[in-house]
Amino acid sequence: MTDFTDAAARATELRKQIDQHNYRYYVLDEPAIPDAEYDRLFNELRSLEEQYPDLVTSDSPTQRVGSQPSPSFSQVQHEVPMLSLANAFSDDDLHDFDRRVRQRLEGDAGVEYVCEPKLDGLAVSLLYEDGVLVRGATRGDGTTGEDVTSNIRTVRNIPLKLQGSGWPAVLEVRGEVYMPRAGFEQLNERARDEGSKTFANPRNAAAGSLRQLDSRITAQRPLEFCAYGYGRVEGGELPDNQHEILLKVRDWGLKINTEMRLVDSVQGCLDYYQILGEKRDSLAYDIDGIVFKVNNLDQQQALGFVARSPRWAIAFKFPAQEEITELQDVEFRVGRTGAVTPVARLRPVSVGGVTVSNATLHNMDEIERLGVMIGDSVIIRRAGDVIPQVVQVVLERRPDDARSIPVPQQCPVCGSDVERTRIVKRSKGRETSTEGSILRCVGRLTCQAQVKQAIIHFVSRRAMDIDGLGEKSVEQLVDHQLVHSPADLFRLTVPDVLALEGFAELSASNLIESIDASRRPALARFVYALGIPDVGEETAKLLARAFGSLERISQALPEVLEYLPDVGGEVAHEIHAFFDDLHNQQVIQQLRANGVEVQEEGSLGAEFAASVSFADFIARLEIPHVARTSADRLATAFGSLQQLIEADWLDLKQVDRLNEKAIKSLRGYFQAEQSRQRAQAIEAQLREFGMHWESPRASTDSLPLAGQSWVLTGTLETFSREVAKAHLESLGAKVAGSVSAKTHCVVAGPGAGSKLAKAEQLKVPVLDEQGLLDLLGRHGVTS
Ligand code: IVH
Repeated sequence: MTDFTDAAARATELRKQIDQHNYRYYVLDEPAIPDAEYDRLFNELRSLEEQYPDLVTSDSPTQRVGSQPSPSFSQVQHEVPMLSLANAFSDDDLHDFDRRVRQRLEGDAGVEYVCEPKLDGLAVSLLYEDGVLVRGATRGDGTTGEDVTSNIRTVRNIPLKLQGSGWPAVLEVRGEVYMPRAGFEQLNERARDEGSKTFANPRNAAAGSLRQLDSRITAQRPLEFCAYGYGRVEGGELPDNQHEILLKVRDWGLKINTEMRLVDSVQGCLDYYQILGEKRDSLAYDIDGIVFKVNNLDQQQALGFVARSPRWAIAFKFPAQEEITELQDVEFRVGRTGAVTPVARLRPVSVGGVTVSNATLHNMDEIERLGVMIGDSVIIRRAGDVIPQVVQVVLERRPDDARSIPVPQQCPVCGSDVERTRIVKRSKGRETSTEGSILRCVGRLTCQAQVKQAIIHFVSRRAMDIDGLGEKSVEQLVDHQLVHSPADLFRLTVPDVLALEGFAELSASNLIESIDASRRPALARFVYALGIPDVGEETAKLLARAFGSLERISQALPEVLEYLPDVGGEVAHEIHAFFDDLHNQQVIQQLRANGVEVQEEGSLGAEFAASVSFADFIARLEIPHVARTSADRLATAFGSLQQLIEADWLDLKQVDRLNEKAIKSLRGYFQAEQSRQRAQAIEAQLREFGMHWESPRASTDSLPLAGQSWVLTGTLETFSREVAKAHLESLGAKVAGSVSAKTHCVVAGPGAGSKLAKAEQLKVPVLDEQGLLDLLGRHGVTS
C-alpha cells in the first residue's frame, strides 16, 4: 500500500530472521550464516528504523545498545526467594547428600539427578510476561534484588521475546550471567593498552558490567546468560521434571548449558564430576564446581528446604582457581622480539590442582597499576590455557621490608640498553609516536636470548619445519657459538652437531638432512619464520598471497601494506621497520647466500589487484574534508593522480557536489611538497606492484569475456572463490550470485547444489574447476 507498510512488513521479517539467527548462534551454537551476512540484516533493520522511527519496537534486536545512565537501581522483591546451595567438598559429602535424599524419599522408586557445571558469574532473574521480557533483576540477598532491566536487555543471548509457543503467561527464568574467558581476556587486554583498570577475574568483570548505571557500557561487555532454573510460573504449566523444563526453556529461546546430563545414581554424579573436572580447563568459561539437582519435581517438593538451601540440590566444588602466595622476586625475561617482560617468582602454591611458581606481570604499566612490591602477598589466578597471572595485591599483608621492583636499564641477558617501545600512529600523512608499556632490549641478534628465541621460532613446525631441533639443542648451538643467526643453521655440518649433547651419528645426519630439506620454503612460511613482531601465520599468508614476492613485501610502504585487510597501522609499521633494519637485511642476505631459495609466486595476487581502485587510493590519503563519496567523484573526474595534482580550482569546481572546503583542502594537500610526494610514492609503488586503475571501465569492452555473466558455486580447490571471481572479472566478465536465463556460464565445484540444478534446467553451460583453469590458461591467466 504505502512505503510505510512495506517497511513495517520488512522490519517484522528482519526481526524474525535476526532473532532466529541469534538463537542459532547463542543458544544452539550452530550459526546458519556468516557474521557478515548477519551484520547486513542487522544494518538493514537499523536503517529502516532510522528512516521510520515509528517502526521501532521495544523488543527489536536493535534495542540492545543501552540507554542513559540511571541514578541508581530500584529494588525488586523476589516473590519466590532466590536460594543458595549447600556445598560438598568430597566424595563422602556427596554420598551423604544422596543417602539423605533417598532416606527422605523412602519408598520412592529411584532418584535421578540433573548434573550441570556451576558457572562462576552472578545469579539473575528474568521475568517474561506474555513472552516479553519485562524485568531483569539481580539476586541481591535472595529476597530483595536490584532492577537491572536496561542492562539485562543488552546481553546478546537473552531473548527480548520468547520464541515458539506454550510458555506460561508469567514465567520467571533464573540463571547465571557470566563473561566467557576469551571476552574477559580481551577486555583486560584493552584496559591494559588504555592504561585503565583491569578486572581480577571474569566473575568480577561480569558483576561490574551488570551493575553499571550506564547500560551503554554494559552493552559493550561480552556478557552471556545461561538458564538453570525458574521462579514464578503463572497461567501455564511446566513439565514435571527439571531436565525437561530446561529443554523447554531452550526451545523458548534461552541458552542452557550444553554439558547438562541426566544420571540415575550417585555414581553417575561422581563420574560426571570427574569428566567435567578433566574438561574444566578447556571450557570457554570459568566454573567453580558441579551442581547436582534431584530431577523429579514431586520429589523436590517432598524434600523441601533447610535454612536458605534446597535439600534437593548440592554444589560439589572444584579446587579454587585463585590462591594467595608470596611474591619472592621479579625476574625479567627476554623474548623473540626483544620484549623484556617481568615474571613473578612465587612461593609455590597449588592453584586449581596445579603447582604454580611463576606468573606473568605483563609489563611495567601493569606493575604500576597493581602497585605490587617484592615481598607482597598476591592473588594468583590460573584458568584454562592462559599463563597464571598476578591479579591483585593483598595490601593489608604487606611486610615492612617490602621492596619496589626495579626497572631494568640493561638487558639481563646481553647487557644492551633497554628502551620503552613507542607506539607509532600515522594519520593524514603524519607520524606521531607515544611511549608504550613494553620494554625492549635493543641488542637484537647480538642478544643471545633473542637469537635463541628467534631460532626456536624459525625452525618450528609451522615456520621452516626443521625436524629434530628442539629448544635444548638450539640453546646449545647458540651457547657453543656455532650459530649466531638463523642463517648459520644452513652451514652446520654433522661434526658440528655431534659436538652437542644428545646427538649421535644417525640423529646428527638426520638433522642436517632435515635442514637441507627445508631450503626451499614457500613464501608464506618464510615470512612467518622471520618472526616479524605482530606477524602471525595468517598475516604471513596474506602478505605472500597479496604481494607474491619477498622483494615486494620488504619494499612495501606502510601505507601500501595497510591496503591489506586486517593489516592496521601498527602491524604495517612493524613489517616496514623489520625490513628497514640493517641487521635483518643482512640475515636475509645470508640465508640466501647459504642456499635458502624462497618459493615465490612472482605475480601480484588477484585479490589484491582487484581490491584497489583509484577512488580507494584517494579516500585512503585521508585528506581532510574529502570523504569516500567525494573520492569516488574525484576518481571518475580525473582518473589518475597526476591529473588530480594538476587540477586547478576551476577543474575541481566542476566536480559534482564537491564543496569549497574540500577543494581548498585538496589543493593545500597537493601543494605541500611532503604530502604530495608521499602520495606519489604510494601511487608509484602500487603501479610498480602491477596495479593499474586508469579508466578501468573503458577498457573492459575489448576483453574476451566482456558482457558475459558468470556464476560460481560449490568449492574450488586451486583458489578461493574470491580469487576465481577476480580472475573472471579481469577478463571482463561479471560474476553474479544467482543463475538466470541470462547467465552465460556456471562454474561448479564439489558440493554445488541448487545453482547447478537451475543451470541444468535452464541449459546454461557448466564448467568444472579444470574447465575454468583451462579457460583462464587460454587467456593467459595463471592461478
Ligand atoms: S541452582 C536453588 N545451578 O550458584 C538452587 N546455581 O549457591 C539455585 N550457580 O546463586 C541455584 N551455576 O548463582 C544453580 N547450574 C547452576 C548454577 C548455579 C551457578 C550459582 C548461582 C547461585 C549459586 C548457588
